[in-house]
Amino acid sequence: MINVNCLNNIAACGLKLFSDEYNTESSFEDAQAVLVRSAKMHDMELSDNLLAIARAGAGVNNIPLDKCAEEGIVVFNTPGANANAVKEQVIAAMLLASRDLIGGNKWVADNAEDPDIAKATEKAKKAFAGQEIKGKKLGVIGLGAIGQLVANAAIALGMEVYGYDPYVSVKAAWNLSSEVKYISDVKDIYKECNYITVHVPALDSTKGMINKEAFDLMQDGTVIINCARDVLVDEAAIGEALKSGRVKTYVSDFPNPTTAKMEGAIVLPHLGASTAEAEDNCAIMAVNELRNFIENGNIVNS
Ligand code: MLT
Repeated sequence: MINVNCLNNIAACGLKLFSDEYNTESSFEDAQAVLVRSAKMHDMELSDNLLAIARAGAGVNNIPLDKCAEEGIVVFNTPGANANAVKEQVIAAMLLASRDLIGGNKWVADNAEDPDIAKATEKAKKAFAGQEIKGKKLGVIGLGAIGQLVANAAIALGMEVYGYDPYVSVKAAWNLSSEVKYISDVKDIYKECNYITVHVPALDSTKGMINKEAFDLMQDGTVIINCARDVLVDEAAIGEALKSGRVKTYVSDFPNPTTAKMEGAIVLPHLGASTAEAEDNCAIMAVNELRNFIENGNIVNS
């Protein structure tokens, strides 16, 4: 959802608004440009007038790219605009997987009326004892806008960080802390790291990349964080890895009904980019891209 300030910004850019949610128009039938967040556009009718689609976010797997290419519709995304929001969620996920704040909070809700709460609390402190992330090894798979920020933030938190990306850009290389160890074989991430976070797009080559072979290389008690795309982690394999203890916690930002039932999984409704700031940043970047294209014919994707 894009917030009202952004809609005002869009209007201020001189673009006409089409949005059911805000009741400005009921469809985008005649629109020359469409700004979309996560809605799947594959089954939508694309009007003959449509010149461009801007995806307010990084991933473009909700856009029918082949159809757009055939029809000459330009597709933009907003690289980096929500990266800080996702980075903060990944750090929160690592901390949640290390300190059971959710369990502790539930324990208090269930036990707050216990007349012997002080004694019970002493036991709870032992039962909920966690581990610190400082000094632990974090593997970051994918060093795009989000991966870079996660890697640098983890360095600042005292972690030892391993980064892997077969297509690392020069910009990413400049932005990365010199303390991040660049790894050329992803297997070394699986073997070495206590925490692994994945930040790659959903492509044929990345679907199911965190699979049984990967889990077989990991140490017992590894934490996996997936705020990128659900399909990157093989569903059956993560289920087995959680059962065997190879994976201690799987934090997934995808409301997958199978994953949600797995013990040791913390499953969220794709909240990574859901901050007011990220929504503004994405909407403003997307609108500027569309305006620059519609008004000046420029195709600048950022
Ligand atoms: C992205 O690809 O940037 C995210 O899926 C953003 C979103 O939640 O819209």
